[in-house]
Amino acid sequence: MGRYLSFSIAVIIITIKDISSYHDNFTSVESSEGVEWSLARDQTSKYPSPDSLTSPLQTEPRRRLVSGGATNPYNRSFDALRLPMMGMMEDPTIKILFDIQDGIRYVLQTKNEYTVAYHGTGTTGMSGVLDNMIEPRDKVLVCIIGYWGNVVAKIAQRFGANVVRMEKSHGSRFSLNEIEAGLHRHRPNILYLVNGESSTGVYQPIDGIGNLCHKYNCITIVDVIATVGQQPIKMDENKIDVVYMNSQKGLGGIVGLSPVSFSPRAMRKVRRRRSFPVIYQTDINEQADAWFITKPVESRHEAYTHSISVSLLYMLREGLARVAEEGIENVWERHADTHSYIQFRAAKLGLESFVPKPEDRLIGTSIWKAPRGKDGFKIEKYMLEKFGIEISPGLFIASGKVIRVGLFGSNANREAVSRIMDALEIALNSTETNS
Ligand SMILES: *Cc1c(COP(=O)(O)O)cnc(C)c1O
Ligand SMILES: *[C@@H]1O[C@H](CO)[C@@H](O)[C@H](O)[C@H]1NC(C)=O
Ligand SMILES: *[C@@H]1O[C@H](CO)[C@@H](O)[C@H](O)[C@H]1NC(C)=O
Ligand SMILES: *[C@@H]1O[C@H](CO)[C@@H](O)[C@H](O)[C@H]1NC(C)=O
Repeated sequence: MGRYLSFSIAVIIITIKDISSYHDNFTSVESSEGVEWSLARDQTSKYPSPDSLTSPLQTEPRRRLVSGGATNPYNRSFDALRLPMMGMMEDPTIKILFDIQDGIRYVLQTKNEYTVAYHGTGTTGMSGVLDNMIEPRDKVLVCIIGYWGNVVAKIAQRFGANVVRMEKSHGSRFSLNEIEAGLHRHRPNILYLVNGESSTGVYQPIDGIGNLCHKYNCITIVDVIATVGQQPIKMDENKIDVVYMNSQKGLGGIVGLSPVSFSPRAMRKVRRRRSFPVIYQTDINEQADAWFITKPVESRHEAYTHSISVSLLYMLREGLARVAEEGIENVWERHADTHSYIQFRAAKLGLESFVPKPEDRLIGTSIWKAPRGKDGFKIEKYMLEKFGIEISPGLFIASGKVIRVGLFGSNANREAVSRIMDALEIALNSTETNS
């Protein structure tokens, strides 16, 4: 008892001492209602509130975002961001986690159990899946047809992989035979491909890749960021092991979540690991607990890995619901129709595609060479300033020499094509866009 008392007194003294040092610049007044603390305001701070933050937030009016990056979200997913927030352990929140898993499996046409969404951008997913699949010294064959393969090679190196790069010129893609030759020669543990190379506007088919990887005993990782929700992906049928996505392109939401899916075969490799993945937050086993794949809902208080953004979950859930409501085949068809129409309109303007073969072209992101005498950066500026339309002058590859337009999600329709191509015609006729 005596020991307990002296312990308590010690705690109280420590607490008072802490408060007094924290509150040196506060004055205290004792009143009948207790002690009131008030800040001594006579000192002028060396750190005043910044002027930048005392003026109102500045934004531009509604833009049409068709650069091939983030698109205008579906109204249904954007509106969901304003819904009242719930606690992360509540039943309706947990139901949303399951809804999202169902939606991701649907858009990928897969039954993979290990299907979750990381918090972060598509690059978080890219890094996260590489971290889970790579054990130090694993050989990774990276098929590079543009910007994204290079990023993957850099990340894989950081996780200790033995990276082998296989490259094609910009605007082209690998044939199945070329990929098989690479597998035969290098015998990698992991093969990486980008399904939609948005920096060059190239579509890399993945049919037959899974069978090849089974034959050569490797794991396939495919970036489907620029194809999911835009053109067919059949993850199970094509025996693809791991894919990653983001929430702001074909899934029609805003930046913030990165869905990923791992096949049972990929999970067998994860289970055989002798070391943990480097990053805790994207460890698929941690996330499978947090998404109640490997933990029952009853143990919700032991499922925490990190705070979840309930609002972002609403957003992704509603984007997926919007796609499910339309039907994934209809969504693919709508994107294909938009693609045909923009190709037609571009041909009428005499634009030459950056990707020579029509069958190599990505559905959702189209790239043309800037016409002779025209400057891609100036076209971008003109389109934005005169019409509020954000196109891209190219991402790292041929930048300033191309025009890139991404029509997916809410912008995949003929009305959007007409507005953009009408504006582009005027931009191209203007001397302001001359190089
Ligand atoms: C946009 C994109 C990424 C990057 O996604 P972020 O969400 O910007 O990190 C990766 N790969 C491809 C093919 C992309 O189009
Ligand atoms: C209180 O304010 C004075 C004068 O600005 C400063 O020197 C001192 O460090 C402050 N004390 C604490 C604990 O912040
Ligand atoms: C989405 O919302 C915007 C802004 O309120 C509106 O202008 C637009 O027509 C809506 N789009 C659809 C397809 O309902
Ligand atoms: C752009 O220029 C072409 C060729 O001179 C002309 O045929 C076309 O009508 C012009 N379009 C617009 C919108 O001014």
